[in-house]
Amino acid sequence: MKMNNLLRGAICSILLLSFMPSMAQKDPDLAKTPPMGWNSWNKFQCNLDEQMVREIADAMVATGMRDAGYEYVVMDDCWHGQRDSLGFIHPNPEHFPSGIKALSDYVHSKGLKLGIYSCAGNTTCGHRPASRGHEYQDALQYAKWGIDYLKYDWCDTEGLSARGAYTTMAEAIMATGRPILFSLCEWGNNKPWEWGASVGHMWRTTGDIYNCFDCVKEHGTWKAFGVMQILDMQDGLRQYAGPGHWNDPDMLEVGNGMPINQERAHFSMWVMLAAPLIAGNDIRNMSQETLDILTNKEAIAINQDTLGIQGFRYAKDGDLETWLKPLANGDWAICFLNRGKEPCKVEMDWNFFRVEDDFSKLTIDTSKDKYTIRDIWQKKNLGKTSKMFKSTVPAQDVIMLRICKTVK
Ligand code: GLA
Repeated sequence: MKMNNLLRGAICSILLLSFMPSMAQKDPDLAKTPPMGWNSWNKFQCNLDEQMVREIADAMVATGMRDAGYEYVVMDDCWHGQRDSLGFIHPNPEHFPSGIKALSDYVHSKGLKLGIYSCAGNTTCGHRPASRGHEYQDALQYAKWGIDYLKYDWCDTEGLSARGAYTTMAEAIMATGRPILFSLCEWGNNKPWEWGASVGHMWRTTGDIYNCFDCVKEHGTWKAFGVMQILDMQDGLRQYAGPGHWNDPDMLEVGNGMPINQERAHFSMWVMLAAPLIAGNDIRNMSQETLDILTNKEAIAINQDTLGIQGFRYAKDGDLETWLKPLANGDWAICFLNRGKEPCKVEMDWNFFRVEDDFSKLTIDTSKDKYTIRDIWQKKNLGKTSKMFKSTVPAQDVIMLRICKTVK
């Protein structure tokens, strides 16, 4: 009898296990809108330490960036020290003498979250110890430290399957029980948009961004891409993005030296792409113009729109492109991008403007409905869509509008 019960119990457990859904691969509650934050790499590369991270957290608050929506402070490559005799990773003791837990406590005390970086290979792109073969141990360490975000790179990964390696780390994160946003950084090599949504919250679609508007930087064995080059590489990917899973065209170069018109165009296009907005400049020390771009609340609201629909290039006429992004409540964002070095005239006859977006099935129809027009950068209302819109887009700049249906 006792034996029978035992047997029955065992059979029940086996049945239960086989009917249980497999363990979720990522936290389903994170990144409902594109993640926002700051990352050390674009400006500082391997030069980061705890003092700087604290100062960045302070600046996030003092500049108003936190209140504008920036949430994650992410330490990219090179925070690492060595593994201990049990295999646990530790930070570089000279650069992080107080340890990562103290740092995350500090960042949390400012109402912000702390992100960290690792890599699926044996070593990171900056030749530091990476997570291959230590996935569960590293995830556990990050969780103990109070980490909220993991960017996971793809250097030194010979022989690994990308989907397999990212899934292993996703499961390791889930096993810790801590909500950690998982950012896949394998540069689009293995079409992460096709499988990334169940594994992580965002995936890089391209190689690294380079701090220029329209150029390609050759690095010998690899290339980095300017803003316009990265923009063009997003073609055909919008249907893969949505709440909880985003295309990531790489971190912002706003504030790293481009002229202000190019910075505005760069930021606006990342807004239209529903891209993660991860600042990559020294926010402790930036111009008012750069800060005004990074914290334009109406631009950010377009990026953070709850529908989470990535915008699309609707028209191209030489250097002038028209981008559209459907928004909640029937609003639309319209962005005129001038890629060229000369100003460009733009004319829009609302009487003949009707577009149905194949992907979202949403329609904008200014020939039938009247909309109010708001200029996002001028911060001005421009009346209604009853009279023709005529303007000039300065060289390598944008005009970004939000139009809102008026009640008939
Ligand atoms: C890769 C990534 C970058 C950055 C560096 C760090 O190049 O794509 O974003 O993380 O590694 O070494």
